[in-house]
Amino acid sequence: MVAGRFSVALLIGPPDAGKGTQARYVGEALGIRHVASGDLLREHRQRDTPIGLTARAYMDQGDLVPDELVVQMVIERLARPDAARGVVLDGFPRTVCQARALDVALAERGGRVTAALFLDVPTDVLVERLSGRRVCIGCHSTFHVVLQQLPFDSTCPHCGDRLVQRADDIPSVVTRRVAVYQQQTAPVLDHYRVRGVLRRADASSSVELTRARVLEQLGLRESPELCSEPTERNPGHCVSR
Ligand code: AP5
Repeated sequence: MVAGRFSVALLIGPPDAGKGTQARYVGEALGIRHVASGDLLREHRQRDTPIGLTARAYMDQGDLVPDELVVQMVIERLARPDAARGVVLDGFPRTVCQARALDVALAERGGRVTAALFLDVPTDVLVERLSGRRVCIGCHSTFHVVLQQLPFDSTCPHCGDRLVQRADDIPSVVTRRVAVYQQQTAPVLDHYRVRGVLRRADASSSVELTRARVLEQLGLRESPELCSEPTERNPGHCVSR
């Protein structure tokens, strides 16, 4: 997969599948921005914008924010100069309606979705991941309290800002988010399957092993066979070709 003008790669998967974690690697490998609809919505909430005020109730219950709001927000983000060569989208589209709107918006700019990568993780693995997630309020990096040794003062190892637990990471809301994913987002996979751009990566192993699979599926680098087996202490190590 080569990044070109308005080429867009997508990561689709259930809550806590690792979309944000892997999208950062893909963005770095392609030299394009990572744009996450969830991060955009949380920024709106922090600033108390009209979008943020409307989104709050939906997000806190684990429901999807209405299509028209999210589509407008993401399309506007894609028009910014730092997205001129394309982006890695994480968390969008989440409904077939959003997928169709994205197709139209990209076609108007001579662009298209070049790859839609499904991160496949069984539900029991997701539940284990959710309780340990911590998110940086500054750079939005995600960490896991068990898998990564985080500073005792709960600051971000990347930028030094504060690490927090997301309000929607409580079990009842996560259960709702998983159900909503199955009802409304899983059908998006077919939208991309029929267009011949859907790929799948097993994302149930370590971050490093998953990264190798993701990059291989996108034709970017590394084969999983070059990675050592992960252990509790060592989440896996990949050897460059
Ligand atoms: P959003 O922020 O998109 O949440 P999500 O899709 O539920 O996904 P997450 O951010 O929870 O997880 P992730 O897959 O990115 O995993 P991560 O890398 O963080 O959306 C939040 C809400 O906003 C939605 O509920 C909805 O209300 C609204 N919204 C957003 N987009 C919308 C849209 N398009 N339309 C309508 N509404 C929208 O990893 C998770 C944890 O696991 C971390 O701790 C990480 O360190 C760890 N981890 C990652 N990979 C691994 C691994 N391989 N092994 C072990 N641990 C791992």
